[in-house]
Amino acid sequence: MFADLRKHYAAIKDRRIEATLDADRAAAFAAQAGDLRLDFAKTQIDDRALSQLIDLLERTGVADKREAMFSGAAINDTEGRAVLHTALRNLDGGAVTVDGQDIMTEVRATLDRMADFATSMRDGSYAGQGGAITDVVNIGIGGSDLGPKMGTLALAPYHDGPRCHFVSNVDPADIAQTLRGLDPTTTLVIVASKTFTTIETMTNARTAKAWMSEGGGDVGRQFVALSTAADKTADFGIDPARVFGFADWVGGRYSMWGPIGLSLMIAIGPDAFRAFLRGGQAMDLHFRSAPWRENLPALLALVGLWHNQVCDHATRAVLPYDNNLSRLPAYLQQLEMESNGKGVSLDGVPLPFNSGPVVWGEPGTNGQHAFYQLIHQGTRVVPCEFLVAARGHDDTLHHQHRLLAANCLAQSEALMKGRTLEEAKKKLAGKFDGAALDRQAAHRVFPGNRPSITLTYPQLTPEVLGMLVALYEHRVFVEGVVLGINSYDQWGVELGKELATSLQPVVKGEKPATDKDGSTAALVGFLQGHGL
Ligand code: F6P
Repeated sequence: MFADLRKHYAAIKDRRIEATLDADRAAAFAAQAGDLRLDFAKTQIDDRALSQLIDLLERTGVADKREAMFSGAAINDTEGRAVLHTALRNLDGGAVTVDGQDIMTEVRATLDRMADFATSMRDGSYAGQGGAITDVVNIGIGGSDLGPKMGTLALAPYHDGPRCHFVSNVDPADIAQTLRGLDPTTTLVIVASKTFTTIETMTNARTAKAWMSEGGGDVGRQFVALSTAADKTADFGIDPARVFGFADWVGGRYSMWGPIGLSLMIAIGPDAFRAFLRGGQAMDLHFRSAPWRENLPALLALVGLWHNQVCDHATRAVLPYDNNLSRLPAYLQQLEMESNGKGVSLDGVPLPFNSGPVVWGEPGTNGQHAFYQLIHQGTRVVPCEFLVAARGHDDTLHHQHRLLAANCLAQSEALMKGRTLEEAKKKLAGKFDGAALDRQAAHRVFPGNRPSITLTYPQLTPEVLGMLVALYEHRVFVEGVVLGINSYDQWGVELGKELATSLQPVVKGEKPATDKDGSTAALVGFLQGHGL
C-alpha cells in the first residue's frame, strides 16, 4: 500500500526542507479549522507525496467509513459495537440512531443531570456530612482517568469549583498520598469505570470507602459512580440517583465528553464544559465537510502515516509549549497507542506494515533541557508535533509567554535548518584551529532536515481544547482506516491482566512459583525475601 510513497520518499529524502519553504509552500502546507491552525510545511511532504497520501484516503474508503461511524454502524467489529463518542458532543445536531432508537434524548438528559449535580457541588447546596464539598477525588484508570485529568489541568485557568484530585494507580502510594490531608466529611469520591470491574479502580474505591466511613463521612451521599454497569454500581452500594450511566458505544479512551468528564465539569462548571463539547462538535462538522486538502484530522493522519509507515520513523514526540497541556502526551499515548497499536487487520491477518507509532512527549521548554539533545543530534529522526497558543491566561506575564513562543518556534526552525560543519567552524574560529577545530566543530554540527508540525491557536480555551481532542480522535480514526485495523478494541491489555490474577496467590505466598518461568520465579523470590 505504501510502496509508491516509499519510492518517492527515497528519491526526495535528502532534499533540504528549507530549500522549498517560501511563503507559497507555507500557505499551501497549512490548514485551519475555527481557531486551530495546522502547519505542516516543515516536513518533506511535497505536492506529489500529498496527492499520493490523499489517494490512500480514497482507496481505503475513509469518507464512507467516517459516515458509518457518525451514523452508528457497529464499526468496532470485534466487540460488535458502534463508536459514537461524537454523539456526546452533538449538542445541537440531529438524531443519532442505534438499533432504531434515537440516543440523543438520553445523552441530553444525562448531560443535564450532570450539570445539575455539578452545580449543586459548586454552590454548596449538595453537602457532605461535614458541609459543602471542598474536594473531589476521581478514582479511575486509563480512559476513566487520563481524559478528565488532562482536561482539568488544561483548563486550570477556568477552575472555580472544588479542588479536583485523581487517583489511578493501584500502588497504595497514589491513594494514600491523595487522601492524606483531605477531610472525609467534605470530600466527594467519584468512582469512574466503564466496566466497574477494573481491579485497580475497584481496589482504590474500596480503600476510599473505608477511609470515608472511618473518618465520619457519609458514603451514601459522598460516593458517585460513572459507569455503563448499573448492576455493579448498585452492588457496590451507590445510590442510582448518583450514578451517571453511558452506553457501550463510548470507548474508554474516547469517554471524557460524557459522564467520565464529571470531575472536569465540577471543576470548570457546566457552561465551560458545554463550551468544550461545542469545540468537539465544531471539529466533527469540519471533519465531515472539509475537503481532504483542508481537513485537519485527515492532514494530521496523513502526516502521521507519512512519518511512520513511509519514512519509518518509529516514534512521534508531542511537545506542547503550554504547561497546562502537560498531560496531553500521556492522554495521547492511550488514545493513539491503545487504538492503533494492533498487529492484525480487520480480517485478522497480520499487518504487512507497522501499526501506529510510539507516542511520547513533555511540555516545552522543560523537554529542551532533557531529551531535545537526541532529537537534534541523535541518529534517529523523531518527528515532532509542537503546540503553542498566541496568549496565555495571565496578561501581566505576557512577556514570559512570548519567551515560551519564541522557544517553540526556534525549535522547529533549528530542527529544520540544522548547522553545517562550516558554520560550526566559523563559530569556533579564534578559539580552536587545525585538528582541534575539526574535532570540536564536529560535535557542534546539527544534521537538520528533521520534520515537525506546529498547531497554533489564540488561547487554550474550553472550545479550543474540545477541538484539539476531537482532532486527535479523528486522526486516530483516519490512520486506523488506512491501516485497515480496528482502532476501537484493546485485546492487547488482556493477557497481562490474566497473568496478574494468576500471580496474586503466588506473591501472597499461597502458591509456589514453580509453575512460573525461572526469571519470574526468581523475581518473586527476591521480592518475597525482602518483605513482599
Ligand atoms: O485495560 C484497558 C482499559 O480497558 C482501557 O481501555 C480503559 O480506558 C481502562 O482499562 C479502564 O477501564 P474501565 O473504565 O472499565 O475501568
